[in-house]
Amino acid sequence: MKDESGMLAGKVMLITGASSGIGAAAARVAARHGATLVLMARRGARLQALADALRAEGAEVSWSAGDVSDAHDVRRTLDLTVERYGTLDAAFNNAGVATKPALLHETDDAQLDAVLDVNLRGVWLCMKYQVKAMLASGSGGAIVNNSSVAGLRATSAGPAYVAAKHAVLGLTKSAAAQYAEHGIRVNALATGLTRSEMSEAVFARDPGAEDRMRRRNPQGRVADPEEVAQAAAWLCSDLAGFVTGATLAVDGGAGAW
Ligand SMILES: NC(=O)c1ccc[n+]([C@@H]2O[C@H](COP(=O)([O-])OP(=O)(O)OC[C@H]3O[C@@H](n4cnc5c(N)ncnc54)[C@H](O)[C@@H]3O)[C@@H](O)[C@H]2O)c1
Repeated sequence: MKDESGMLAGKVMLITGASSGIGAAAARVAARHGATLVLMARRGARLQALADALRAEGAEVSWSAGDVSDAHDVRRTLDLTVERYGTLDAAFNNAGVATKPALLHETDDAQLDAVLDVNLRGVWLCMKYQVKAMLASGSGGAIVNNSSVAGLRATSAGPAYVAAKHAVLGLTKSAAAQYAEHGIRVNALATGLTRSEMSEAVFARDPGAEDRMRRRNPQGRVADPEEVAQAAAWLCSDLAGFVTGATLAVDGGAGAW
């Protein structure tokens, strides 16, 4: 495995939603930076294939199929991590879902529950058990939550998604304040439009969407998932030692527009 920087060498890092898109890119990038990885998502076969590919390049990788909105699955993944590697140094809470955007008064309550379950409760549960593991190790750690530009302002993603991503930024700041004295840093990404299964589904539903979104972006393009992954890797590394409670926009300048 090519050692890109070594900035995550010796770090045990958990990545959720690692079966595709930004999460899978985060696994590839973190492995290149030297991390030992635990990958979590619902699709075990995908995780196994990614883990096999990364191991073939020399990385140490485990995987755990599970649902981030299920406390049992999250706890089991953290137990596996600590039993196998002795500690948890870093986590990228990236698993998320989008819904078909609808007006608030026309949005199904079940749709609201589905988005909040994964995008908010999932991040909450992951942080809860990650913090427990980090406190138990006594050596601090770094957590990065994947929010969105929809965590900063209303977007076409719809009110349920926008509300959940705003909440993730609140959680990030609150946890950063609570655990700073224990050496645990908690940050978030305000991710912009990125090539993934999620964005491809939006483009398939609305063929004009990609062009419209590109035109609204100062860089005029969609991010490659590895560009988002590099920001997460840096925030997880000791190079970002004085950064906590922050929201890093990785959006081609969309937030400044
Ligand atoms: N793609 C974008 O334009 C964009 C923009 C801003 C933020 N984001 C955020 O980035 C994150 C990753 O999304 P992506 O774009 O890579 O899409 P994606 O659909 O390719 O990836 C989502 C990942 O989350 C996993 N996942 C979904 N529900 C889960 C659950 N209950 N338990 C465990 N894993 C689950 C999926 O299996 C998949 O691995 C999401 O949180 C999304 O909201 C994406």
